[in-house]
Amino acid sequence: SGYLVGAVILAYLFGSIPTAVWLGQSFYGVDVREYGSGNAGATNTFRVLGTRAGVAVMLIDILKGWTATNLAYFIGPSVTGPQAAAQFVNFQLALGVIAVVGHLFPIFAGFRGGKGVATLFGMILAVHFQAALVCVSVFIVVLLLTHYVSLSSISAGFAFPFSIVFMFHTSVKSVLLYGMCICVLILITHQKNIERLLKGKESKVYLFRKRAK
Ligand code: G3P
Repeated sequence: SGYLVGAVILAYLFGSIPTAVWLGQSFYGVDVREYGSGNAGATNTFRVLGTRAGVAVMLIDILKGWTATNLAYFIGPSVTGPQAAAQFVNFQLALGVIAVVGHLFPIFAGFRGGKGVATLFGMILAVHFQAALVCVSVFIVVLLLTHYVSLSSISAGFAFPFSIVFMFHTSVKSVLLYGMCICVLILITHQKNIERLLKGKESKVYLFRKRAK
């Protein structure tokens, strides 16, 4: 149980690493939370500081979620037999969600973080590679069609429980429960985006468009 407490704390600390804030401050002298959507995430870093910075934040935030989720290897499973795999996945999901909480409320950045989309993706990647592929595909298709990152994130989040219903053969129930919690979480963190989407005021992101120098 010492390992359990340690893993929980570490998962929160990993999630708390405010990549967007630190990268912006160190390399550009800018706190991305003061510009654009005000969010400390990959999307807003892309918006405010450009492609290179945005991609870097995205990759590091994904890695954060992936690492925190895989801390499960230090604690479980504590049972053997058919329940072991299910229990392990539950540990993984719990640690991933704790990392997301860290990302939303980072102890290293005044508890003002991001929306946890990349971190959630890192968790899904660690738990189920095919489900992650489904989510990424949905994200990319919605982004190319609408140019709204927020709508892409929401769609990809909702694709997660659906993708695991079809692909996850162990512990579907608890994974599904987590999947639904993730949907709710994404809706909560994207409230302002949803308001802007409904008003037609959400900012668009174009992946392939020449920027004026
Ligand atoms: O990654 C978060 C994304 O879904 C929305 O970000 O900055 O447009 O609010 P943002």
